[in-house]
Parts: sequence; structure tokens; C-alpha cells
Amino acid sequence: MLILGIESSCDDTAAAILEDNVILSNVLTSQDQIHTKFGGVVPELASRQHLQAIHPVVEAALAEAGKQLADIQLIAATRGPGLIGSLLVGYSYSKALSYVSNIPLIGVDHMAGHILSVFLGRKKPNFPYIALIVSGGTSAIYLATSYNDFQLLGRTRDDAAGEAFDKVAKLLGLPYPGGPQVAGMAANGDPQAVRFPRAWLNENSLDFSFSGVKTAVLNHVNSCRQQGIQPNTENICASFQEAVAEVLVEKTISAAKRHHIDTVVVGGGVSANTRIRDLFSARCATEDLFFYAPKPIYCTDNAAMIALAGYHAYHHSGPVSLDEDVYSRSPLG
Ligand code: KG4
Repeated sequence: MLILGIESSCDDTAAAILEDNVILSNVLTSQDQIHTKFGGVVPELASRQHLQAIHPVVEAALAEAGKQLADIQLIAATRGPGLIGSLLVGYSYSKALSYVSNIPLIGVDHMAGHILSVFLGRKKPNFPYIALIVSGGTSAIYLATSYNDFQLLGRTRDDAAGEAFDKVAKLLGLPYPGGPQVAGMAANGDPQAVRFPRAWLNENSLDFSFSGVKTAVLNHVNSCRQQGIQPNTENICASFQEAVAEVLVEKTISAAKRHHIDTVVVGGGVSANTRIRDLFSARCATEDLFFYAPKPIYCTDNAAMIALAGYHAYHHSGPVSLDEDVYSRSPLG
């Protein structure tokens, strides 16, 4: 089946063509340069950019795959969660395309895309698995039992992990998006230099909280400045990254143990982080767990994962009605 995937939930406009689960093209335009001067995504600017980019991006994806719109058998578009204005551009465009071309449409949950993105790689996990999804808008642990069944086991109570990376970058004067900037600085820093707090919450909790570690970084920077000491950005980044990585890895492994699952999968922009991936690999090896991570380009927002999740959702529940609307909060939690 030839599928056109369309993604516009935040600040990336993306389209991809998949033949079943083989990627024929994967096109993305990033708005980073527009939002970086504001230190974060400006929703109104994001939707205006999507309006300009959506049609050329879809045309480019078709051209790169060597296909025509008439060849497409299913349109899979992100329905939510995300910024409503951004979602509306991609989803309304997809509805219109579906209507005028008589191609069925499936609305895809962005979280389902991240949970399944690991299937875009050569090495594919078996169900059931535990999925840690960490991005700018979410941090959550799921038990995935099939392509369409995901049970939420824990989620952030405040900031998402990516949001914490972005806020720490901002307070250190690093540009948006902060995750890759912090990771770059951390590569030359000492992760043991500052002991930032790890929020384990209560013993059985699989929830996360990252606002404390972000505030601890702010307090550390302020305290250095009050003492006339120049804060060491590389050490701060490495120490902050280590605190976040440890909590993400240990809680995910604990979820696997508790549910007697032998496979751990990650997804979402933060899972592109090399230190987090390395710590997962090392700890999963010690705990006799299989570990799978998508290629970094499929960790961050992309339309290939939306096409893939749409393919499975369509075979499970058929096309959606064109009356269905976008949503800002995921029913998956
Ligand atoms: O999944 P994604 O592209 O978009 C959302 O749905 O949010 O994730 C973007 C988030 C941003 O917060 C960005 O700073 C973070 O992922 N990120 C990283 C890295 N690359 C992207 N965080 C830590 N380390 C990275 N290498």
C-alpha cells in the first residue's frame, strides 16, 4: 500500500511516502531559524509557516519518491496532540486532498507515531515492549502490546524532558532548540561536576518531574554569579544531562521489570541524545533487556512515522470521517 504521511503538529512541516513500511521519501522543513530569536516556538508564526510550506513539502515528497498523487492509496495525517493552529494546517490540507482525490484519510496520534517509529529501522522489536517517549511536549512511558494498543504507565507531572533541555539552554544563553546545544556542550564537560537532584518521586511511581532539576541549574548559575565565579557551561550541561538521563533510563527499566517485559524502545526528539542512548544500551545489557532506538532523524518529528502508524491504524479501524477534528491533548495520555 502506498501511503502519504503528513506531519505539522509543532514547528516542522513534513511529508513522507511509504510503501507499506518501506520509506520512499522523507521530506521536512524546519522552522528553527524563525523561532530561535524568540527562544521557543511562537504558535502563530508556526501556523503561518506551515501554510506556506505544506504544499511544496508534499510535492517534494511525491517527486522524491517518483510518485503522483493518483498513485497514493492512503493519506495519514497527524490529528494531535500539538499546537492547534499548526495541526489545523496539516489536517485541513489532508482532508481537502482526501476529498478532491477520493483517497481515504486516517488521522494519526503523534504519540503513536513516536511509539512505532522504531519500526522504520532495519532491526525491529517484537511486541510487547516498553516505550519511553521523550520530546519537547511530552515525557511518558507506555506498554505497547500491538501496533494499536498502548497503555500509559507514567508521564511527566510538569516539564517534558525536551522542555527542560530547552529551558536550561535558554538560561545558559544557548539558542533554541536547546537539546542538541546542551548535548554538544555536555560532550566536553564533566557529568560529575555538579550533583543536580534526581526526581524519583515515590518508590513505585513511573511519573517524571523535571522542573526541580531545571530550577537547580538556575540556582547553581545564580550562586556562581553572586560569588563572582563564571559558571562552567560545559560541566553544567554534562551534569544536567546526566541527571535527566539517569531518571529516564532507571524508570523505564523499572517499568519493564515490573511488567515482565524484555524489550525497551525509545522515541521522541530527546531520544536522539547520544548519552541517553548509550546509558540505555549499557543498562539494558546489564539487565538482560533488548534495547531498540530509531535513527536520530526518526526520533525528532517526521512524517515517515505518521505514515507508518497510519498504515497500522487504517488496517485496524478503517478511514476516518472528514468531520473529525484535530485535538491538542492525546487520548493516549
Ligand atoms: O520530538 P520532537 O522533534 O518534537 C516534539 O514533538 O516536541 O522533539 C523536540 C525536542 C526539543 O525539546 C529538543 O530540544 C529535543 O527534542 N532534542 C534533544 C536532542 N535533540 C532534540 N534533547 C536532548 N538531546 C538531543 N540531542
